[in-house]
Amino acid sequence: MNKITVVGAGNVGATTAQRLAEKQLARQVVLVDVIEGVPQGKGLDQWESAPIEGFDSRVVGSNGYAEAAGSELFVVTAGIARKPGMSREDLLRTNVDIVKSVALEIKKASPKAIVIVVSNPLDTMCYVMRETLGAPRERVLGMAGVLDTARFRSFLARELDVSVEDIQAMVLGGHGDTMVPLVSYTTVAGIPVGQLLKQETIDKLVERTRGGGAEIVAFLKTGSAYYAPSSAAVQMAEAIALDKKRILPCSAWLEGEYGLKGVFLGVPCKLGARGLEQIVEVELSSKERVALGKSADAVRESIAQVKL
Ligand code: NAI
Ligand code: 2OP
Repeated sequence: MNKITVVGAGNVGATTAQRLAEKQLARQVVLVDVIEGVPQGKGLDQWESAPIEGFDSRVVGSNGYAEAAGSELFVVTAGIARKPGMSREDLLRTNVDIVKSVALEIKKASPKAIVIVVSNPLDTMCYVMRETLGAPRERVLGMAGVLDTARFRSFLARELDVSVEDIQAMVLGGHGDTMVPLVSYTTVAGIPVGQLLKQETIDKLVERTRGGGAEIVAFLKTGSAYYAPSSAAVQMAEAIALDKKRILPCSAWLEGEYGLKGVFLGVPCKLGARGLEQIVEVELSSKERVALGKSADAVRESIAQVKL
């Protein structure tokens, strides 16, 4: 790609920019934030690592969108985290305003771009982005399933003492307590995980996955996870930039798939140069189907609170 812009130069955004540059996924990586000096400083610092790391992607920081003009892809990480005393509704309102303002800038700077949304609450922010951009569903995707699946895979690899590379899994649904890890599709080098672990151990790891974000917050106290989230966002960006046609769990706008419509939800997506190229429908057990429906209801409730 020629240009990828990352909006939000905080923990997730800055790490994402560095990873994009190190993988040379675009000739230019633009980092945008509202805080004066921060995107410029981080962008310059990252570019100064180029001679050591050996990448030629030029990283630049800015407080505006002039440098972002013509970007083929945006990764949106702008937003605030919930602070003590702040209700979920307060957080939602603040991040709706932030993501809406970012969407309006993207519309001006690069109306045909593909957008990967990272800001929370994830599935609702995808809705805000798409509604404001007025973009077809192919061009707005949310990052959550790749992260939730990576957490599940990392826990399984530890438990089984095997390489993470041999664990295949898929976590669907909304990014929150209602996420749906598909245990029936979880394999270890092709072997169904149920043949290798007791059900109660699998249940424990599923619960740990559901609480994966909170587990990191409990350690960090003043922030949330960013190493794995930035890796996840970059894996999606790579699939799009290199037209890899990877099948990854992403939040996508449903139009009847899985019997659901009018909601953003984590489902298996084929990602390529056109963004979302296909939603892959897999057979679900009745328990998994009910859980996915519940997850969709939770996202719909959140979307219902949005006033654009
Ligand atoms: P952070 O606080 O380190 O960074 C957020 C940045 O956004 C700040 O630098 C802030 O100045 C900037 N910002 C605020 N308003 C802006 C605007 N209008 N335009 C441009 N930049 C703006 O937070 P962090 O850790 O980077 O997280 C970012 C977001 O990603 C949060 O909403 C967080 O909850 C979410 N997140 C989502 C994950 C997922 O799985 N979808 C995983 C990890 C984080
Ligand atoms: C996470 O799962 C906070 O959504 C973020 O780490």
